Amino acid sequence: MAGVAAKHSGVSIDQDFAECGEVLVDKIQIQQVMLNLVRNAVEAMANSPRKLLTLKLLPQVGEIEMSVSDTGPGLTVSARDRLFSPFSGTKDAGMGIGLSVCREIIESHGGRISAGENADGGTVFRFTLPFVRNDDGG
Ligand SMILES: Nc1ncnc2c1ncn2[C@@H]1O[C@H](COP(=O)(O)OP(=O)(O)OP(=O)(O)O)[C@@H](O)[C@H]1O
Ligand SMILES: [Mg+2]
Repeated sequence: MAGVAAKHSGVSIDQDFAECGEVLVDKIQIQQVMLNLVRNAVEAMANSPRKLLTLKLLPQVGEIEMSVSDTGPGLTVSARDRLFSPFSGTKDAGMGIGLSVCREIIESHGGRISAGENADGGTVFRFTLPFVRNDDGG
């Protein structure tokens, strides 16, 4: 999916998916989250000389962490304050609901989502999803 979004925009993809434990998710909803984050990343890099989308999946304590990084201009201060609020987008096209939907989905799965600066320039979004608990008598 990311490949399709990226291909038409001259974006290269670097991906690193580590072996992780199992998570129990609504696949369509998590696909929606990934699609929103990838679309944002690709859109952010529209005018960047360097267009690299990095997707990483890492096991953490009790959860997995997925990150989507871009080499775009980074978040503006005003965007950062209202990032996950609905209708706060800064684009002419787009309702500005992508990230609010992402947050709703991730939090309903017991995870967290946040944004930060990509060390490499640009923005990184990270979300977590808790591992399936295998305790008896649950
Ligand atoms: N990777 C990114 N780099 C820079 N700014 C970003 C990035 N992702 C999101 N933003 C900023 O956050 C705002 C909100 O993003 P969000 O996905 O919620 O809405 P949108 O992309 O504007 O519209 P929609 O997703 O509804 O089509 C964007 O308008 C943009 O200003
Ligand atoms: Mg969006």
